[in-house]
Amino acid sequence: MAFESISSLQSPVSISMTCATAPGKIILFGEHAVVYGRPAIAAPLAQLRATAVVEDSLTPGIRLLAADLGTDIQLDEAAPDDPVAAVVRQLQTAAQLPQLPDLTITVTSQIPIASGLGSGAAITAAVIRALAIHLGLTHLASDDWVSNLTYEIEKIHHGTPSGIDNTVVAYEKPVYFVRQQPQNLIEPFAVGKPLCLLVADTGQSSSTKAVVGDVRRQWQADPARFEALFAGCGRIAHQARQAIERGDVAQVGRLMNENHRLLQEMTVSSVELDGLVAAARAAGALGAKLSGAGRGGNMIALVPAEGETAVAHALTQAGARSVLTTALTPTSPIPDNRL
Ligand code: PMV
Repeated sequence: MAFESISSLQSPVSISMTCATAPGKIILFGEHAVVYGRPAIAAPLAQLRATAVVEDSLTPGIRLLAADLGTDIQLDEAAPDDPVAAVVRQLQTAAQLPQLPDLTITVTSQIPIASGLGSGAAITAAVIRALAIHLGLTHLASDDWVSNLTYEIEKIHHGTPSGIDNTVVAYEKPVYFVRQQPQNLIEPFAVGKPLCLLVADTGQSSSTKAVVGDVRRQWQADPARFEALFAGCGRIAHQARQAIERGDVAQVGRLMNENHRLLQEMTVSSVELDGLVAAARAAGALGAKLSGAGRGGNMIALVPAEGETAVAHALTQAGARSVLTTALTPTSPIPDNRL
């Protein structure tokens, strides 16, 4: 996550401004099953970012501006579940500040909303980081705090988030993640050979809360079947980590295909996602799957270096609204097992 602070002395009154950004994310393996304690793998999407700018204001109160969310309100008039207001109040509570100074907080985002790319978590993380730095609360701007506070906000919007989104956007590193008590397992991992991934958008929005809630209802109705599906996804994520570490790109692709099949059985794919997955595979992708909550949003395709253009073209022909390229690149030596 990036940030900068600027103090302007050009006007008679010093106005200081702090900017912080946070990335989007993709889930490579294990969405949905991760909510039920199975491992998952996710990575930041550095080229799509949310940005928060916090400025001192000469007018009283805290003005919240988020054009993408249609927000231009004063904090004290905002509804309890207003996404940006909730973040500011959360930070105020965590810092035990009885009062905040007069501020303007402006939020912008390049990450499409409700599309499985973690836009909500990224906006929250950017606002927390910018505001904490601006107020001199440097301990609350640490990755740990940004992740924990973002998780609290995710709970308001998503009900039962696993914690993987806030972790990836706050630390901005690929992670192997297991939701567990008393503390989640968060492990970085080595990448043996580069993985070139395309991220394609169906253009259809999807509510993570609704899809996660529906999976929960299906799990309650048929626990044995859904436990088996979740266990399958967990096994795949575990094997995928090993394949990524040893640089077995073909095996990573096969495991993506297997994961997509289990997600179809959970009924979280869609005609559009399946269409893009099939088009990517037919054009030479080594593997393809939906990414995130599903029933819309984005899919990912693993492509051989020389096949990127052909697969990107096929995805566009099959109706993708946008196609991005991202990569997991080799890391060496193997990092320690804590972020
Ligand atoms: O759709 P997104 O980007 O919010 O990803 C959701 C991932 C889930 O595993 C479905 C839910 C979660 O909290 O992990």
